[in-house]
Amino acid sequence: MIHAAQNCRAGLAGLRDFEESEIEAIVAYWHGGGADLAHLGIDVARMGTPDDMRRWYRSRLRSGDKAQPQIAYAITLDGNFVGYTQLNQYEGGVAYSHWHIVARDTRALGISSALYPHRIKMYFDTSEIERLTHQTRTRNVGVNRMLDKFVTVAETGFVANPDGLALPGEFHMRHVTRADVPGLFEIAARSTA
Ligand SMILES: CC(C)(COP(=O)(O)OP(=O)(O)OC[C@H]1O[C@@H](n2cnc3c(N)ncnc32)[C@H](O)[C@@H]1OP(=O)(O)O)[C@@H](O)C(=O)NCCC(=O)NCCS
Repeated sequence: MIHAAQNCRAGLAGLRDFEESEIEAIVAYWHGGGADLAHLGIDVARMGTPDDMRRWYRSRLRSGDKAQPQIAYAITLDGNFVGYTQLNQYEGGVAYSHWHIVARDTRALGISSALYPHRIKMYFDTSEIERLTHQTRTRNVGVNRMLDKFVTVAETGFVANPDGLALPGEFHMRHVTRADVPGLFEIAARSTA
């Protein structure tokens, strides 16, 4: 299923359900040198083997059950897979998301900024979450510049047990609720007006 299509200066950016044939691109990103593990601050001891990762991502293909704990989606440019995002939802309607533009030559071209409101709407439309928290490492300039356009930092501090595979460290925390979604599209409309 296609969730969004939005023009940006790189072309037509999109979001759709992640497909099984794309799992190898994620395995190559994490295990084949694609991801900058040091910059991202990944705990390599918890990364598992390539086969573990294949199994994990097969279980993250969207089933249609809004309570599915972990859901992966593909990020596309002109219809081609360029990255993925994952929603992790927990009891009480709280959630964290992860976002990776895997194809390096498509970074800093506006794809993530253009898709941001669509991304958040997609998470809320396809899950049971009520609040999403962005937990971003303070040294990750790209992701923080992108989020600064839409959501203010609620808190910055040391997180001992960050979501996903990240090592402890300094993180910015930003929160988005279901009620915030229309306002995100208004911000996007103002910035392109
Ligand atoms: C970080 C990341 C998500 C940014 O996505 P993107 O599609 O490249 O972002 P955009 O092109 O929309 O850029 C947003 C802004 O940040 C800037 N930017 C992007 N990457 C940057 C970088 N590495 N250093 C400095 N600025 C950067 C862009 O120039 C743009 O600024 P502007 O709108 O003021 O001109 C992407 O590079 C990525 O996936 N990196 C690897 C994984 C990662 O870090 N994920 C986030 C983990 S929390």
